[in-house]
Amino acid sequence: MAELKHIPVMKDECIAGLKIKSGGIYFDGTLGGAGHSYEILKNSSPDGKLVATDLDEYAIERAKDRLSEFDGRFKIVHSDYKNFPEIKKELNIDGFDGILLDLGVSSFQLDDKTRGFSYMAENEELDMRMDKQNPLSAKTVVNNYDEKRLKEIISEYGEEKFAASIAKKIVETRKSKPISTVKELNDIISSAIPKKFQQGGHPSKRTFQAIRIEVNGELDGLYDTVISMCRGLKKGGRIAIITFHSLEDRIVKRAFRELETDCICDKSLPVCVCGKKKEIEIITKHPITATEKELEINGRAKSAKLRIAERI
Ligand SMILES: C[S@@+](CC[C@H](N)C(=O)[O-])C[C@H]1O[C@@H](n2cnc3c(N)ncnc32)[C@H](O)[C@@H]1O
Repeated sequence: MAELKHIPVMKDECIAGLKIKSGGIYFDGTLGGAGHSYEILKNSSPDGKLVATDLDEYAIERAKDRLSEFDGRFKIVHSDYKNFPEIKKELNIDGFDGILLDLGVSSFQLDDKTRGFSYMAENEELDMRMDKQNPLSAKTVVNNYDEKRLKEIISEYGEEKFAASIAKKIVETRKSKPISTVKELNDIISSAIPKKFQQGGHPSKRTFQAIRIEVNGELDGLYDTVISMCRGLKKGGRIAIITFHSLEDRIVKRAFRELETDCICDKSLPVCVCGKKKEIEIITKHPITATEKELEINGRAKSAKLRIAERI
């Protein structure tokens, strides 16, 4: 088993921002290496409770160990955090004091080369599934999607300038033999990007990110989930969301704005007819980013943006 060395991103900012307190009840939708969950349980001692979800059974096994000192105070559900409303209902929880999402992939998922998330692997299968029960893997995407869709995904989710030529090369290559390994995909990407544009970072970085987002449906339903999570907070409860991608961040910002907006009636009307009421206060007018000090020890935090809101 790979050594667990996930460093929780903006740990102090999340704990302070969520106003963790004894006796509180919290939801961590992206348990991962349990870095944030550990801090939530520690800071809500002696009696705070935590419900956590993750798609990755392997992460859950590791996390149970990491949290063992808090046995009896947490419940882990192997589930998509998008099932938040059902989980809340099933566990008979009226409202949470705090909810955390730390989106994307964890460093130990990336470090475990057998999972196929990392372009640093070689002959490992193209997989990238967080949940082994997911029928869609990176191999399926790369070998079955048409060129137009591949280009869209690589361009939109990876913000890759050379998306068109990468998609074309993928389709050309797979005509003779299916693309199976990380190395095969790396070679295709590298041959599709002119050498002079391969200076800043690994040429596969953006394409791998794009395929991973597609495989795990990372943007699907995020807006509705943020809305239902905000509504699942107690009055005064807080939600903190860390994103690593501009599209994710935009979705979170839009959902927060929607809930922060009061009456949307035309100003000329004497009384409100829309009935829309403000439901949250946005605490972070601008997203919080990692400090220089944190970036020195955790480069992964570089693109992280933290947004916090409070239920009113
Ligand atoms: C960035 S890591 C979280 C790290 C965690 N906060 C920590 O401190 O160790 C993201 C985790 O969320 C999980 N994940 C991603 N999307 C998910 C989803 N839709 N539902 C549940 N878990 C998800 C991934 O499997 C991964 O373990």
